[in-house]
Amino acid sequence: MAVAVERAKGNYVHAGNLKSRASLYDHREPRIDPVDIAAGLMPAGPRLVLDIGCGYGRYLERLRADHPDAAVVGVDAAPGMLARVEPPIMVADAQAIPYPDGCADAVLAMHMLYHVPDIAKAVAEFRRILKPGGTLLVSTNAHDDMAEPYAMWARAIRSVLGPDVFLPGDEVAKFDSANAPAYLEAAFASVERFEERGTVSVPEPGPLMDYLASIRSYVDCDDAAFERIVATVERELDAHFAVHDRYEFEKAIVFYRCR
Ligand SMILES: C[S@@+](CC[C@H](N)C(=O)[O-])C[C@H]1O[C@@H](n2cnc3c(N)ncnc32)[C@H](O)[C@@H]1O
Repeated sequence: MAVAVERAKGNYVHAGNLKSRASLYDHREPRIDPVDIAAGLMPAGPRLVLDIGCGYGRYLERLRADHPDAAVVGVDAAPGMLARVEPPIMVADAQAIPYPDGCADAVLAMHMLYHVPDIAKAVAEFRRILKPGGTLLVSTNAHDDMAEPYAMWARAIRSVLGPDVFLPGDEVAKFDSANAPAYLEAAFASVERFEERGTVSVPEPGPLMDYLASIRSYVDCDDAAFERIVATVERELDAHFAVHDRYEFEKAIVFYRCR
């Protein structure tokens, strides 16, 4: 468990890795912004909104614009992620949120629960700090999100490090569409599901190589071994682009509105 926490911490020392992964949405059809989807699922007239695991604040700006009378607080366990986020902000762990019972109208936990060591404890914390009838918005990846690139990375990682190695996809699989409902239904009477599925189509290897670099902290090896993994992926992508104009795969995310 400690190793898993260190992997996630290593990934969020600063905002660069997350921004690199988010930029894949620039190549997705239909074009969507997850921030629009979350904004559309928010309750009317909230007074206190907590965005837990807010990262570099992708959702905060929009929530503050949409709800000018609300206090919208960005909370993250990694101080480096909050470095350029407008206050109010707080460094805190989703498993022990320093807010009283029943204080929040809405809590967001966007693409973050798979990093939390005790997911059930964090979901119980969200329930505890919400007012009765309050709304929890959660997002994560569909179980088959980005299946082809993750399989390509897994092939390369295994070819260099052996068959029994932890894979970057194993982190998100801790809380994806296959197991998220069970966690959420344990704490909330109503769990609605909203899925967004689209195709990412890239004209050259660059965005996929950038993405691979952004998940470096999830590959447990030294830099020389990681360079061999990168070179293996480069060869596979070069072979692909020798016969295809584009590399295409499905990107699917899910949102849950819990009350
Ligand atoms: C994939 S990023 C998502 C950021 C943001 N919610 C978004 O969707 O753009 C996950 C974030 O969760 C934070 N995080 C990880 N474990 C956490 C924990 N136990 N408590 C609070 N934040 C955590 C990380 O530091 C990181 O900023």
